[in-house]
Amino acid sequence: MVHSMRRFFSLKAILAIVVTVLSVFVVVKVHRIDKHLSSLARGTKGFSPSNIMCEFPHNPAWEVAANDDQITLVNMMTQQPFRWLNKGYQACAFESGDGEYVIKFFNQQRLREKPFLEKPLEYLFNEKFRVKASLTQKHREEIFSSSKLAYEVFPEESGFVFVHLNRTEDLFRGIKLIDMKGQVHKVRPDATSFIIQKKATYVLPTLTVLMKEGNVEGAKKRLDQIFDLLLSLAKKGVTDSDYALIRNNNIGFTKDRAIYIDTGHITKNPNLDIRKQMDYEFKRRLKPLYEWIRFSYPDLAQYYDMRRHDILTHLTDHLADEETKTLATAAK
Ligand SMILES: Nc1ncnc2c1ncn2[C@@H]1O[C@H](COP(=O)(O)OP(=O)(O)O)[C@@H](O)[C@H]1O
Ligand SMILES: [Mg+2]
Repeated sequence: MVHSMRRFFSLKAILAIVVTVLSVFVVVKVHRIDKHLSSLARGTKGFSPSNIMCEFPHNPAWEVAANDDQITLVNMMTQQPFRWLNKGYQACAFESGDGEYVIKFFNQQRLREKPFLEKPLEYLFNEKFRVKASLTQKHREEIFSSSKLAYEVFPEESGFVFVHLNRTEDLFRGIKLIDMKGQVHKVRPDATSFIIQKKATYVLPTLTVLMKEGNVEGAKKRLDQIFDLLLSLAKKGVTDSDYALIRNNNIGFTKDRAIYIDTGHITKNPNLDIRKQMDYEFKRRLKPLYEWIRFSYPDLAQYYDMRRHDILTHLTDHLADEETKTLATAAK
């Protein structure tokens, strides 16, 4: 009798455990489905100023020096409304009315650390979420420091006109943003992290237009501008860990040069081997561009080949000269 009671209780206990586990499983699943649905809805909801409000405490590492003239310039530029242009993973971009500039706001929701109490289920049961949460801070530091670097070390190559990362008080006038649905939002730039950059055109469409117009010289010039950009960054010891240079529109053209549109994965590397770096650029990151040119405009590809050869040979000769000089100085 006692034995069968024990069996009954243990059966009950097992049932209770199974029901509890199943309930937790259902709650977690429902929560995930809900999250997925709300993220789908967010995609079509459009732009929301609340996503770009910076709520981080002041961080001296993100301080970018700005004098009165620069602030006046920004306030002049932002008197015109800015229209929705595009968004990436980190930022959303709006284009100035005169088509000359882009203002990019970092999506702060993606950078915000989520406290345990806000997402207890995710912290407890979602391994992916935990890993992502621990990477958020690193990611924030990476994109903020690369923006600062782009503005301070290579403003020409990035086309950056202004960078503002920490919140400020009353430096800037309100700016009118027109989102993808034509809705107007008045935003206080002081409360956001933003970049003002020259507006660029994308590489493949620009080359296509030139070649269709029969402007081969123009297309060659544009290719030279891409090589100059990469060479100039290599000389400054700046590298980009984003592999997709052309596909993601990471570079583009302003009126008279190529610029780096997306600086989010850029870092500075002391002692960078310029020749090796350029070799890598040609072999890996520029390869899709080269293949496209070879397929679409074989004559232009010949020019590309010639320039690649010149650049790499020049760098090899230059390095050999430097080595000889170093040896000569050491022998003295
Ligand atoms: N200066 C610019 N000129 C033209 N388009 C731009 C410019 N800056 C951003 N964009 C557009 O906005 C998108 C997102 O900007 P990007 O700097 O790449 O941010 P993310 O880091 O989020 O990818 C780009 O892929 C591009 O289409
Ligand atoms: Mg991008």
